[in-house]
Amino acid sequence: MDKNTKIYIAGHNGMVGSAVWRALSRLGYDNLIGKSSKELDLRNQDEVARFFKHERPEVVIDAAAKVGGILANSEHPYLFLMENLQIQNNLIDSAHHHEVKKFIFLGSSCIYPKMAPQPLKEEYLLTGSLEPTNEWYAIAKIAGVKACEAIRRQFNKDFVSLMPTNLYGPHDNFDLRTSHVLPAMLRKFHDAKANNEPVELWGSGTPMREFLHVDDMAQAVVHALEHVLPEHLYNVGTGKDVTIKTLAHTIQNIVGHQGAIHWDRSKPDGTPRKLMDVSKLSDQGWQAKIDLDAGIKMTYDWFLENQKSIKMNVL
Ligand SMILES: NC(=O)c1ccc[n+]([C@@H]2O[C@H](COP(=O)([O-])OP(=O)(O)OC[C@H]3O[C@@H](n4cnc5c(N)ncnc54)[C@H](OP(=O)(O)O)[C@@H]3O)[C@@H](O)[C@H]2O)c1
Repeated sequence: MDKNTKIYIAGHNGMVGSAVWRALSRLGYDNLIGKSSKELDLRNQDEVARFFKHERPEVVIDAAAKVGGILANSEHPYLFLMENLQIQNNLIDSAHHHEVKKFIFLGSSCIYPKMAPQPLKEEYLLTGSLEPTNEWYAIAKIAGVKACEAIRRQFNKDFVSLMPTNLYGPHDNFDLRTSHVLPAMLRKFHDAKANNEPVELWGSGTPMREFLHVDDMAQAVVHALEHVLPEHLYNVGTGKDVTIKTLAHTIQNIVGHQGAIHWDRSKPDGTPRKLMDVSKLSDQGWQAKIDLDAGIKMTYDWFLENQKSIKMNVL
């Protein structure tokens, strides 16, 4: 890939988009473009089409989405379904009509059935029912994967989908109403330490989850950019998981919280286990490098340095 290729990173202010921007800038890509949601509302089909006609990006990385945890998803089903469909449909269709040569669509591991065998292989897509708490978001993401697959199949274009596991890192969302489990725990332990209080966590602590640092995710995007991948869908993760309880104790140690942890079993656990099979992308030469302890320490350092400007996503 020529370093002067015009690359549009949709959602470049977000956790993933900003990590991709940093990674590409470091590698010398010098023709990156990005627009905030205030400058370009990706839900608006006409605005998006005008932007593509004017800017003519050669590559699109779609890291724009309405993203949230279990609580936000279950309270706002229509918003998570419709806004994600609108954003991705407008980007994919405009990219198709304006001769974008490569499109990288980012989805999520929640596209796989709740009870699929573990670790999750790409071929398990659409083989069973989804986890109900985030099925709205998942259905939108599945539609995005299928749209890219259809364009690839019908028009032989290099549209590829990457399905990251749970991500964390700098620029994460630490708002307790809308955040994912890892940043929510970091924030809870940090606040509880400051107030000398116990920490209350959702569920039983027994579900198992996999976590990938967003800088590793950005490297997977770089890999997909710089190689023509032979298939339409790839999982991105570490291939290793931990219980939520282990995660809580790891974060508690890193933050230095000394109090008790109470598990609220009246709250949902979500899917019992979610581990990606990452062998397909690893066969193509990509692997995660940042281990969980080091990644959480880096994220907590970032959180401490950026407390005044941390993201509070209000829906
Ligand atoms: N976070 C995770 O754990 C995780 C895990 C798996 C997959 N992913 C996927 O990775 C992608 C990025 O996630 P993220 O965590 O980086 O999310 P994020 O930090 O919330 O960033 C999302 C970005 O999307 C942009 N956006 C949202 N609505 C928009 C609109 N109507 N018009 C224009 N831009 C809009 C926002 O732009 P502004 O900031 O300008 O408003 C924001 O920068 C998503 O597809 C998500 O599914 C994330």
